[in-house]
Amino acid sequence: MAEARALAAAAPDLAALREAMAGYSHCELKKGARNLVFADGQPGARVMIVGEAPGREEDQRGLPFVGRAGRLLDLMFGAIGMGRAAPDVEKALYITNILPWRPPQNRDPSPEEIAMMLPFVERHVALADPDFLVLMGNISCQALLGRKGITRLRGNWQTVFGRPALPMFHPAFLLRNPPCKRESWSDLLLLQSRLEGK
Ligand code: URA
Repeated sequence: MAEARALAAAAPDLAALREAMAGYSHCELKKGARNLVFADGQPGARVMIVGEAPGREEDQRGLPFVGRAGRLLDLMFGAIGMGRAAPDVEKALYITNILPWRPPQNRDPSPEEIAMMLPFVERHVALADPDFLVLMGNISCQALLGRKGITRLRGNWQTVFGRPALPMFHPAFLLRNPPCKRESWSDLLLLQSRLEGK
């Protein structure tokens, strides 16, 4: 972890951070993964989404949230006029995960794996410099807030690395629990009004 902290702190920009992560060999997950999944969208976007870890399609393509859950994520944010391909930073998203490598069989990452990669996440947030974070699901909340219980946390603004952070249900959870989309819609509207300064 000390090495992760030193490597992350020494990265002057996102490209260097990506390289530092690619060269970090203490996390076992790296061995089983095809690709490092660093980020997608626009650095400089006002909103940065932090998910859990890559799944199969993300591992294959080297991009976060490009499978089924990712398509739902795109639809959700599209409904408030935001997207990862938007050229305007006001409308753009920047997307990453707590873990850059796919855990075998999509198992939950262990607390040790999360702790090891956390310095990279902290540096990633500092370099991307968003106004707001969205924490997608329990693993992201566990890692960044030290708390689980997304049903209670969602929709309530928190502070992470000194920035406002909104926990939301993970889109993979919404695919399994469609009635919860109602709460996510209200969370998206909450984010939208915060973006508009209301
Ligand atoms: N779920 C996540 O949390 N992140 C991804 O990139 C894909 C699925």
